[in-house]
Amino acid sequence: MAVLMFWVIGLLISAYLGKPMVSQVSFVMSANGLEFPKITLCNYNPIKNSYIQMINQTGDFPPRLVEYLLLANSNAYVSYSFYFFYSIFDLSNRVGYSENHPDFTVDQFFEQGGFTCPEVLKHCSFAGRVFDCCSVARSVLTSHGLCHYVNLREAGEGMRIQKESSDTAGLQLILDAQREEKIPEEDAAAALANPINAGFRFFVDEPETSTYSSSQGISVSPGNVVYTAVSLVKTSWGNCTSKWPVGYTGNNTQWKYQSKDCISKCKARFFNDKCGCSPFIYNIDRVPGGCSYYQW
Ligand SMILES: *[C@@H]1O[C@H](CO)[C@@H](O)[C@H](O)[C@H]1NC(C)=O
Ligand SMILES: *[C@@H]1O[C@H](CO)[C@@H](O)[C@H](O)[C@H]1NC(C)=O
Ligand SMILES: *[C@@H]1O[C@H](CO)[C@@H](O)[C@H](O)[C@H]1NC(C)=O
Repeated sequence: MAVLMFWVIGLLISAYLGKPMVSQVSFVMSANGLEFPKITLCNYNPIKNSYIQMINQTGDFPPRLVEYLLLANSNAYVSYSFYFFYSIFDLSNRVGYSENHPDFTVDQFFEQGGFTCPEVLKHCSFAGRVFDCCSVARSVLTSHGLCHYVNLREAGEGMRIQKESSDTAGLQLILDAQREEKIPEEDAAAALANPINAGFRFFVDEPETSTYSSSQGISVSPGNVVYTAVSLVKTSWGNCTSKWPVGYTGNNTQWKYQSKDCISKCKARFFNDKCGCSPFIYNIDRVPGGCSYYQW
């Protein structure tokens, strides 16, 4: 037995209002109606250049700390040994910074350095009806930095289901890639910017699951037109589960079960047990006690 869901994602990157850095994302659904998935939008350049300038006004933000922050965003298992390495070689460097900036944390760096909703989402409409993007969108910290998601199922009646199949009947988002905020290549913090891509990566998920560390994703670059069709087929893949294992239920998570969230929770626990805190990419429920930068 298969439950088939189908939608077409049309990406039209237009010179909207003559500004070529603006991207347009349109979601077109099948005619018989489908509840919208959650759309999470992440800028390829997670940190604003103006933020780096701002926090480095004093000139004491060491380039080594940039490398460290990059590692914080990568798989902590791979980089575990690097942390150890850096913690020995760079302790004085980093502790120096944390003495002057005692509140500095990795989470805060990515949250405050990322683009805000009004900077990203410029225009939203559903079935031709314009709505206030940022009253519907929420922000979320992911392995791609600060992202914003639109969950139309929370947006009220008339917005949950697309009834007609056409490019004007669906969800349309116009995004600003803010290319002028890209960290210049010659800067010490350039590694935090994507050297090749400008634009967005976006993720399509069930609303009840996390988008913390999706490796999938669809790219939208300014200056291109991309059309994508996606179909979700629920089928028998063997001995699957739709429930959290014993010990992960109760108040341990707000998310509906999916294997990638289960793996994240498992890793978060491992780090919690070993270090008393968890790297933010595994801390999908945002429980207090994420590791600050000098802790891990
Ligand atoms: C911070 O400013 C100092 C002095 O201008 C500079 O040497 C350093 O590279 C800057 N750090 C970053 C991460 O840009
Ligand atoms: C599926 O896995 C569960 C848990 O590992 C096990 O108890 C069950 O017997 C398995 N079912 C089948 C049909 O293999
Ligand atoms: C979960 O949290 C709620 C409210 O905080 C509390 O009333 C309930 O007892 C908790 N349940 C478990 C299994 O810990």
